[in-house]
Formats: sequence, structure tokens, C-alpha cells
Amino acid sequence: MEQRIVTDKLNRPLKDLRISVTDRCNFRCQYCMPKEIFGDHHPFMPHKELLTFEEITSAAKVFADLGVHKIRLTGGEPLLRRDLPNLIALLSEIEGIDDIAMTTNGILLPKFAKTLKKVGLKRVNISLDSLSDRFGEINGRGIMPSTIIHAIHAAQDAGLGVKINMVAKKGMNEDQIVPMAAFCKEEKIQLRYIEFMDVGNSNDWKSDEVLTKAKILEQLSEQFDLEEVPYGYGEVARRYRHKDCGTELGFITSISETFCHSCTRARLSANGSIYTCLFSNSGHDLKSVMRGGASADEIKAFIENIWMNREDRYSEIRATEASNRKKIEMSFIGG
Ligand code: GTP
Ligand code: 5AD
Ligand code: SF4
Ligand code: SF4
Repeated sequence: MEQRIVTDKLNRPLKDLRISVTDRCNFRCQYCMPKEIFGDHHPFMPHKELLTFEEITSAAKVFADLGVHKIRLTGGEPLLRRDLPNLIALLSEIEGIDDIAMTTNGILLPKFAKTLKKVGLKRVNISLDSLSDRFGEINGRGIMPSTIIHAIHAAQDAGLGVKINMVAKKGMNEDQIVPMAAFCKEEKIQLRYIEFMDVGNSNDWKSDEVLTKAKILEQLSEQFDLEEVPYGYGEVARRYRHKDCGTELGFITSISETFCHSCTRARLSANGSIYTCLFSNSGHDLKSVMRGGASADEIKAFIENIWMNREDRYSEIRATEASNRKKIEMSFIGG
């Protein structure tokens, strides 16, 4: 089938699909799934609610027909979904999809990296918020940075592209801004500082805890000689590079420099709903449409209609929105 371009009400084309494959995670990061809220008896999605790999693949094919060329697997922790490489193998067969990536906490990468690469995964974005033992408190599971560094090396050895995600939050890791940059420069890995975001309703977000790109750059400029890389349409990160070696670093500035104007991302939750914004409060039930026996053309019309009616730009209107708007949790919608 021919790829076509579908644009939303703000003239943004549909280009990327983020697929959450599970809402479970083996970490309890304070800014995402604080353990006080996501306790031992937290009700995660029952297995029968999850889209099967065949259903995800059929949906992804329709998205590809509508212009998507990049797929990212997320969670929760995507590697907790049993047999995940089988899904990647199916997705990598889809015509028009030229990039399959995954966002992961890394803990299971030493076990899976080689297989993931073999079945078609190209890149992983791995979370690492600190190089100090404090990381154990941040992830809520006592996992030490050395474990994640080992995972990063396993991914590189397997031939996967690697970026590191660091959520930056006052009182949590501002002392790690320079050490993390130095580590990633040494390792020649792109580090992205992510401004702490008000996703979901559980992470006790406060605007005065956000470490903005400007604040982070202030610290970095004292140690490193950086230059800005031009921003490309559809990019999430504002990028810079070290003048001496060319290694890049980035900032995901959902709070201080919004990028909704070029947001080309749709999200598919593990239980089969389509969300048109990370900060959505409700989704569109694709699973019922698919399980109700809709034809490929009907599914396509359903998705196309959702995208054509999209007008989300939450980051731009954050300040004017009631701050108690009920939102979907990050671990559910996949970041
Ligand atoms: P690349 O393809 O490597 O650029 O990946 P990515 O940065 O799009 O994906 P990743 O899952 O690593 O996300 C990094 C951070 O960006 C996470 O905190 C995401 O929640 C955030 N992010 C990704 N897409 C969006 C978006 O559309 N809006 C907002 N506000 N944040 C986003
Ligand atoms: N703010 C910013 N980034 C977050 N992430 C999870 N919760 C938040 C938050 N509240 C990041 C994770 C991971 C990516 C999917 O989203 O660290 O890198
Ligand atoms: Fe798990 Fe990632 Fe959320 Fe941490 S940020 S709790 S690793 S889903
Ligand atoms: Fe896209 Fe919503 Fe993020 Fe804006 S806030 S960039 S519309 S996902």
C-alpha cells in the first residue's frame, strides 16, 4: 500500500508511533512510578487486556500506511513483555518502517541485546540519572549505576545505537549534571537531559523543582565548550555538541522551550488505545475496533480521523490549564 501524509488541525504530519507494550516496570523511579503509589498490590493491566503481537503489528501496518516511518517501543519496561523480540521481528518486516528503537531502563539488556539487534532493533535510549549511589534511591530498587553502565556496554557491543536519558530534577541530581556530561563525552554517547515533567498525577510535580535547559547549560558552560546544533522539525531534543570532539548532548525541554509545534508522534497503549499527546486524559479505543472485526480500511479511517482532528499542544498551554487536569501515567502511556 502507498504511504500517505495525514496532517492534524495544526498541520503536523503523523510520522512516529510510540508503542507501549506493558505498564509494568521493575524500577520505581521517583519521578515516574513512586513506590509509595505503585506498591506491591498495584493493579496493573490484566494480560487479556494487552494487544497481542499480531494486533500490534496490524495496527503498526496501518500507521505505516498513514505516514509513520519510525516506531519506538516503550513501557513501563518493554523488556518485561514476554517474547518481545518476536514482536520486533514482526515490526521490522513492515514496509515503510525504517527505524525501530526502544526506551528502556537497561537492566535486561545484557540478556537481550544481541537478540534484539538480530531481529531488527536499531537503537536504545537507556535511563541513567546519576553516577552516584544516590541512583539506587532514585530508581527505588537500589540498582547501582555500574549495573546500567554494564548494560550500556552490552548494547553497544551488540551493535545497537545508544543514547542516555537523564531526568534532571532539583534536589535529586543537580550535582550530577557535569559528571554525567563528562562520562558521556568520554564514552562518546549522546546524553539527553530531560526537564522533569508533570506527566500523570503521581509524581508530585512542582514547577520549582524543574531544572531547565538554561540552568543546566549554565553549569555545563563552565566546564565544556559547546555549540548549538540546528533544530530539525519533529525533533524532541535541542542538541549541542562539544566543539573539540563533536559528541552531542541534548535537552528535552517540555517545560522551558516547548516543541508541540512539530509534534508528529502518536502513542499506542499496551491495552490498545491511541493517545495523541503525552498529557492526554483519554484515548481512542482501537482495540475494540480491531476486535470488533473492522476491516483494514475501517481501521485506517478510524486512525486517520483521530489524527485529522488532533489539536493537542499541552506543553504550550500548560500554564493556562488547570494544573489538576487528570492525566494518564507515564508508565501507562510510555513517555
Ligand atoms: P529519539 O528518537 O532518540 O529522539 O527518542 P525520543 O527522545 O523521542 O524518546 P525517549 O523515549 O527517549 O524520550 C525521551 C524523553 O522525551 C522522555 O521523557 C519522553 O517522555 C519525552 N518525550 C518524547 N516525546 C515527547 C513528546 O511528544 N512530548 C513531550 N512533552 N515529551 C516527549
Ligand atoms: N519527567 C521527565 N521524564 C520522565 N521520564 C519518566 N518520568 C518522567 C518525568 N516525570 C523519562 C524516563 C525515560 C523516559 C521514557 O521518560 O526517564 O527516560
Ligand atoms: Fe520504569 Fe522507566 Fe518509569 Fe523508571 S522511568 S519507573 S524505569 S518506566
Ligand atoms: Fe506532543 Fe503533547 Fe508533547 Fe506537545 S505536549 S510535544 S503535543 S505529546
